[in-house]
Amino acid sequence: MKHILIFLILTITMFPSSNAQFFRMNWDSINQLNQQDHQLMMKKLGIESLRPGPSGNPEDPNAANSDESKAKTYTSLPNPLVFNDGTSVKTPEQWKKRKKEIRELFDREMYGRLPADIPSVKWKISNINDTLEGKYPVCIKTVKGHVDNQGYPAISVTIDLTVVTPAQSEKPVPVIMEFGWNFPGGFKMPGQKGPSWKEQLLEQGWGYAILNPTSIQADNGAGLRQGIIGLVNKGEPRKLDDWGALRAWAWGSSRAMDYFETDNDVDQKRVGIEGLSRYGKAALVAMAYEPRLAIGFIGSSGAGGAKLLRRTFGEQVENLASSAEYHWFAPNFIKYAGPLTPNDLPVDAHELIAICAPRPVFISVGAPNVEGTWIDAKGMFMAAVHAGPVYELLGKDGMGLEKMPPQETNCSEGDIAFRQHEGGHTTGPNWPYFIEFAKPYFDKNH
Ligand code: GCU
Repeated sequence: MKHILIFLILTITMFPSSNAQFFRMNWDSINQLNQQDHQLMMKKLGIESLRPGPSGNPEDPNAANSDESKAKTYTSLPNPLVFNDGTSVKTPEQWKKRKKEIRELFDREMYGRLPADIPSVKWKISNINDTLEGKYPVCIKTVKGHVDNQGYPAISVTIDLTVVTPAQSEKPVPVIMEFGWNFPGGFKMPGQKGPSWKEQLLEQGWGYAILNPTSIQADNGAGLRQGIIGLVNKGEPRKLDDWGALRAWAWGSSRAMDYFETDNDVDQKRVGIEGLSRYGKAALVAMAYEPRLAIGFIGSSGAGGAKLLRRTFGEQVENLASSAEYHWFAPNFIKYAGPLTPNDLPVDAHELIAICAPRPVFISVGAPNVEGTWIDAKGMFMAAVHAGPVYELLGKDGMGLEKMPPQETNCSEGDIAFRQHEGGHTTGPNWPYFIEFAKPYFDKNH
């Protein structure tokens, strides 16, 4: 019963609440629209066919590689500390310039650019509820971000944000913001014991916020002419370097930061971001682009998130570029699934982590025998290793490890943390470790 309920909630929340029309669309027509838009983008790119990605089902003949000995890793990775013109980055001052170069490459080739003229967002608290979360008295604010749509009234976008802070708190508190949905009563994974992650945060005297990603932008290609991307484009298709859903979701988290600056219960200097899977990717993109975010908890983000795209293990660029996932990225990214290859990418995931520096990032993943190998834990670990030199240049610490440690080793000595927990596709078992990792940073500020 609980699973059916969760399925229904997830299905409903996949669509922007402001677009009632979406509720009537069935999956077939969504797929059809995905494919039409994907084809249109391929045409614009002058591409006729793409290499198919491997299957996520280990039983399939074309299953993604899950054998470490067959993982042909990159021949060479782009070096975050070398400028595009080949000169080295030697000082923090030079890194500022190099960071701009890297951002430009991610903008143009992978996640897409933020349009110059995104309309403004007006935040309004629509409801305040003093209640209990477990045994903790809390104040729950339901907040709506109304995007100005005077430029194109046919599309309206209202961002859903829930902000939960300890009821008795006399001063602004740290808040961890999750990309997701606010399940009534707090969502626990089946079989999960102990306090929920929300209760764990409240136990510290911290709060949490839930930012609904699909109230910003739908999670499919069919929705690209709606949501915030469609609003800016006035219902027209994207340009080749236009933003994809990941960048749009991350933009939404920046607007949530604007709201926090107006909420006296929240300490805007101590706001972190968390997400799982595609929302783990979004959390990392948000950290990379929004300097006001103090810390990131990046859950099983895999390909398109913290995993090195050049590594032939688990999910591949060809999967990301397919009609099922291309909407997360700029259309330009599709070309790396044909005629170009992942080795032609001018950037890779270690540089996405690197541009979060010097701020702390915790990279989380589950166990291969429970979560599967699609996410590629080692590919994320290696990206974290290769981001290290940038942290070091800025006077911080990388991970301090070069070799992947055994499962359940908490690598949190440096400013990049990594932990592979014993569970499945969830950040669940890593919450206590993330909280311990975050504490000194949050204490330092106060
Ligand atoms: C698919 C996809 C992943 C993604 C995941 C999720 O498995 O291939 O890239 O992270 O869905 O978001 O659940």
